[in-house]
Amino acid sequence: MIDLCIKNCKISAENDLCSINIEQGKIIDITKIPLKAEKTIDAKGNLVLPGLIDVHVHFRDPGLTYKEDFKSGSESAANGGFTTILDMPNTIPPTNTVKNFQEKLKIASKKSIIDFGLHAGVSDLKEIEKITNLNPASFKIFMDTVNSSFLNEAFKAISELQKVENTDINKENNTKKPVITIHAENKDIVNHCTDQIKSKEENNPSDYALARPSVAEEVAVAQAIALANHYQTKIHFCHISTDKSLKMIKSSKSFLNNISSEITPQHLFLDSSSFKKFGNLTKTNPPLREYSEKISWENLSKIDLIGTDHAPHSIEEKKKGVWDSSPGIPNLEVVLKLLLTKYHAKKISLDSIKRLLCENPAKIFNLKNKGFIKIGMDADLVIIDLKREGIINSEEFYSKAHYTPFEGMTYNGAPIMTICRGKLVMENNDMYQNQGIHVYP
Ligand code: NCD
Ligand code: ZN
Repeated sequence: MIDLCIKNCKISAENDLCSINIEQGKIIDITKIPLKAEKTIDAKGNLVLPGLIDVHVHFRDPGLTYKEDFKSGSESAANGGFTTILDMPNTIPPTNTVKNFQEKLKIASKKSIIDFGLHAGVSDLKEIEKITNLNPASFKIFMDTVNSSFLNEAFKAISELQKVENTDINKENNTKKPVITIHAENKDIVNHCTDQIKSKEENNPSDYALARPSVAEEVAVAQAIALANHYQTKIHFCHISTDKSLKMIKSSKSFLNNISSEITPQHLFLDSSSFKKFGNLTKTNPPLREYSEKISWENLSKIDLIGTDHAPHSIEEKKKGVWDSSPGIPNLEVVLKLLLTKYHAKKISLDSIKRLLCENPAKIFNLKNKGFIKIGMDADLVIIDLKREGIINSEEFYSKAHYTPFEGMTYNGAPIMTICRGKLVMENNDMYQNQGIHVYP
C-alpha cells in the first residue's frame, strides 16, 4: 500500500491518462493502472503539471509583514499552483548577513506551507563567504542601488566562492559557483533622469517610465554581462523589460554558459498604456515599456523563465502619487490563469508554460528533485482545469495585497489542486496546513 495515488492524470498532450504514485513525498512510479494507496485523488482527466516554481517573490518577512508574510505569501503561491518559491532579500533586516539569513530560515520553516529557498543580499563582502555555507538560492544585486566600483568588487568576491553542497541536476550547469541574480537598472541614469522628470511642473503616472528609461536597463545589462564574462560567474537577469536587453542576453549565450533571463507577467502582458488605465497601481521596477520596446509574445521563446516578482504593498502605499507610491505588483494568484488563457488564444503552448515555470527554474537554480514529473522527483504537482472560466478578482487573493492590474479580466483555465511533496495544500481555492522545507539543505 503506497501513500498516495493520483489517478486519471493527463501529464502531456501525447500520452494517455496515467496514475502518479507517491510514497514519502516522492514519485515512485507512473503507471497505467492506479496502485493501491491509503489516499487516492482522482484528477478526472485534467492536465497535471509539475508544481510551479517562482524564483522571484518578496514575502516581506521579517519586518514588513503588514504587506505580506511567509504564511500569506506561501498560501498565495499555493493558490496560484506554486509548490516552490525563492524569496528576495529586501526585507527588514535585509538577508545579507549570516544572522539575518538564519533568522529568515527559521521564520520560513515555521510559516511557509510550500517549499522555499532564500536569495541572499550583498552588502558586506566579508559576510558572503559565510552565507554561502548556508546555501542561498543566489546572491542578489540591485544595480539601481550600488555604484560600479562596488559592483566590480561584488562580482569578483562572488566568483571566488564555492558552494559547499552541490545540488546540480543538469551537467551543463555543473559548477559549484553561486548564481548572481541581477536587478538591472543603472543607478546613475535612474537618478539623473528621475531628477530631470521630477522638476517638470506637473507629473503623471507614465512619467515614472521616463524617470527609469529603457537605456538604464540596457546599460546595466551590458555591464553585468561584461562582469559575468570577466569573472566567469553564473548570472540571472530578473524582470527584463525591453527587447534590446533580451537580445543582448541571448547573444551573450554564445560565450557565457550560465546566463539566463526572466520576464514578469506585467512586462509580458502589459505596456506603458496601462498607466492611463491603472495609474500608479502599475508602477513597478523596471517600469512598463512602450509597446514598440517591450518583449513580444513572439520572442517569449528566447526567455528562460517567468518570475512573478510578486511584490505586495499596502493599498495606501500604492496610492501615494507618482514618486512616493511603492513599486511592485502581486502576481502569484494570476499568472497561471493569465497564461492558460493565452494558451487557449494560441499565444503560448502548455510545453512552454512548463518550460518557463517548472523546468528552467529548477535547472537554473539547481533545485534538486523539482520541476519534472519523473520517478524519483518530489511529488510537487498542480492539477489544472483547462475549462474553468472566471473573472480575476483580487478580493479572493490569499495575498495581503488585494489589487491587480488584471482585475476584472476573464480567464479560461485555472489551477484546482496544488500538491507539495505528496501533501494536498490547495483544493478549489481552499488551503490545507502544510510545512514547507528549505530546498537547499
Ligand atoms: C520590488 C519590491 O517591491 O520589493 N519592487 C518592484 O517594483 N519590482 C523590488 C524589486 O524587485 O526591484
Ligand atoms: Zn527587482
